[in-house]
Order: sequence, then C-alpha cells, then structure tokens
Amino acid sequence: MDLLPVAPIETLRRRRSAKWRFHPPDVLPLPVAEMDFDLAEPIAAVLREAVELSDTGYPAPDPVLAEALAGFAGARWGWEIDPAAVTPVADVGVGAVEMLRVLARPADPIVVCPPAYPPFFGWAPEAGGRVYEVPLVDGRLDLAGLERAFAAHPAAFLLSNPHNPVGTVHTSDELAEVVRLARAYGVPVVSDEIHAPLVLPGATFTPILTLRGAAGIAVSLVSASKAWNLAGLKCATVVTASPAMAALVDRFPPDTSWRVGHFGVLASVAAYTEGVPWLERLLATLDDRRALLGRLLAERLPRVSWRPPEATFLAWLDCSALGSGDAPRELFFDKGRVAVEPGLRFGAAGSGHVRLNFATSAEILDQATARMAAALP
Ligand SMILES: Cc1ncc(COP(=O)(O)O)c(C=O)c1O
Repeated sequence: MDLLPVAPIETLRRRRSAKWRFHPPDVLPLPVAEMDFDLAEPIAAVLREAVELSDTGYPAPDPVLAEALAGFAGARWGWEIDPAAVTPVADVGVGAVEMLRVLARPADPIVVCPPAYPPFFGWAPEAGGRVYEVPLVDGRLDLAGLERAFAAHPAAFLLSNPHNPVGTVHTSDELAEVVRLARAYGVPVVSDEIHAPLVLPGATFTPILTLRGAAGIAVSLVSASKAWNLAGLKCATVVTASPAMAALVDRFPPDTSWRVGHFGVLASVAAYTEGVPWLERLLATLDDRRALLGRLLAERLPRVSWRPPEATFLAWLDCSALGSGDAPRELFFDKGRVAVEPGLRFGAAGSGHVRLNFATSAEILDQATARMAAALP
C-alpha cells in the first residue's frame, strides 16, 4: 500500500498548531498528539468548500454526524449504534467532564489507570471528583486492583480504550471482566475510545458497548479527531446504548451541542463516510513507522526499552537505564533539541519514561533518534 507522504520540515514549521509552535525552531517536536501527514483529501475538500461558501456558522442540529458515525462503527467493528443515542460534544474532554460531573458528588473517587493521558488527572477534579489510581501492571489493566477499587464505590471508571500512552488494546475478555465488575459494584464506565480507529495491524479493537451487559453501565466517547488529525476543529460524540445511560447524558448543560465546531462536524462526517481508504493508508504508514522506530532504537539507543504499541502513534519509552533519573525528557531536549513528553505527566508510574509521537516522516524519526543518541552522557 502507498504510504502517506509528509511535507518537508520547512512546510511543517509553517503550521501554527501547538505541536509546531510550542518549541523554538531548532527543536524537533515529537510530543503533542498531532500528526504530520497531509489531511485526507475528502476532508480537505469539504473544508475548502465550506470556506468558499462562507459556511462558517453553527453546526446544524441534524442527524448527519450520528448517522455517519453509526455507518462507520457498524462497518468497521460490527458495532450497531442507534443514531438517536449519539450526542455531539466539542471534544472528548468536554464529553468526559460533563459525564463525570453528572456522576460524581463532591470529592468522589474516579478510577484512572496510570500511566494515563495527563488530562485524566485534571478532568476528575474539574468534574468535582478526585483521582483514584489503579496503575496498569505490565501495560495491562489490573483487574484485581480494579475490583478492590470498585468495592470502594467510586463515582466512575475513566477507561482509555485503547490506552494512551502505552498503546495497549484491551482484549474483549479484559473488557468483559471490567463490565462484569462494573455491574457487580454499580460503577459506571466512561470509555474514552478516541484512539479506536488507530488500532494497528496485529490487534483488534472491542468497543465497550458491544459487550453483553455493558449498555446499562457504560458510555463511549468517540471522535474522528485523533485518527484524521482534526483536534482543532472541535467535534466528538458521546454514545450510549440504554435509556439509563442516555438519561445521564440528558442532564448535560443544554447548550453543550451548540458548542461543537461546525467545521469539526463537516470534517468528521467526511472522515467517517469517505475517509476510510486514507485511514487504511495511515495505519499502514504508522505500522511502517513503528517498525522503523524499533530498528532505530535498537541500533542507536539500545538502553531504551519499549513495548511497541498495539494502537496509537505514541511510543512509551522506558529510559530508566540511561541514568537520567526522573527526567530523561530534559536530556533529550537540552542536549538533543528533541521534544518528547515527560513520563511524569502521565502519573508517578511514568517516572524514567518519555512518550514519543511517531506520526511523522521516516526522515524526522531518523534525525530525532540520531540527536537523542548524541545527547546521551
Ligand atoms: C485518550 C485521549 N483522550 C482524549 C484526547 C483529547 O481529545 P479531545 O481533543 O477531543 O479532547 C486525547 C488526545 O490525545 C487522548 O489521547
């Protein structure tokens, strides 16, 4: 399959998004989860057309987005979504916080599995709760630990399915056990499935709501924003599959859906309905970059260890053997001029780690690993 091209670095540096504006121009930026590939053409076309028409108003309250998502999820995962059970939100963060706000009373525990996507630690208090940590064990869910946590009756379990930053795709057996425990202890599961379309060759994604018994206890947060690089356009969805969970979403602030980006809706519809050939090329490209990164690390940074992710374009690198203590990120940044995410942002379990974004060109990965290797003491 034809891999996706990446524009020359001088062109990438003209982008004004966080990834490309956060650091000085001599730094190779591999932190923020944005991708360097060109937009999928059907998405670019729909956005161009909207600009031409000055079609820059509010999103229409019609079912087009919900129907597009239902079509995509059915074809890709055999997940039957009722379009009437899809609620647009501005982004996954808004969907998660509004959901947790409905579920949590002040200072209620909300279960999170570190190392975890850093905003999870902020969403829980924003919603009025507090984080209760059940760390992953060897990169997988600690089901016994979750049972102990659920026995304390937390307000919710905030799950990353697949898991950012380690890239684990939870198996259907693991998720079935999560659902069993959630039902047994009455703990709602908020399943953040933003990385679902980014499951790489070799792994299979299970939408939580396809599991028996999940409908009454779980909601799913889905978005095209990671897989098609649309984060700035502001569109995600909350999906439910039972009247009980839909009733919770009905308690969101009434204007929530008006705060969604119109461009985000247009682009997401194009992604779900016409963006699958591009997604397949993306997955082949990420598979290629994952293998390349493995070769470059083995050759140039043999003391860095990692488990290649089953999903996402994020590599979770264990740098504890480098002798840089808690802060390998500083070593790579100060000496190598390569920016990666510091592991401690993902919780204490991230000590000695960094997260590297490999959704870029082979040339940039080559340069970045060369610079990282040259930065070693
Ligand atoms: C697990 C996870 N959830 C949510 C987000 C952010 O989504 P949004 O921009 O839609 O809030 C990210 C971004 O990388 C993520 O990795």
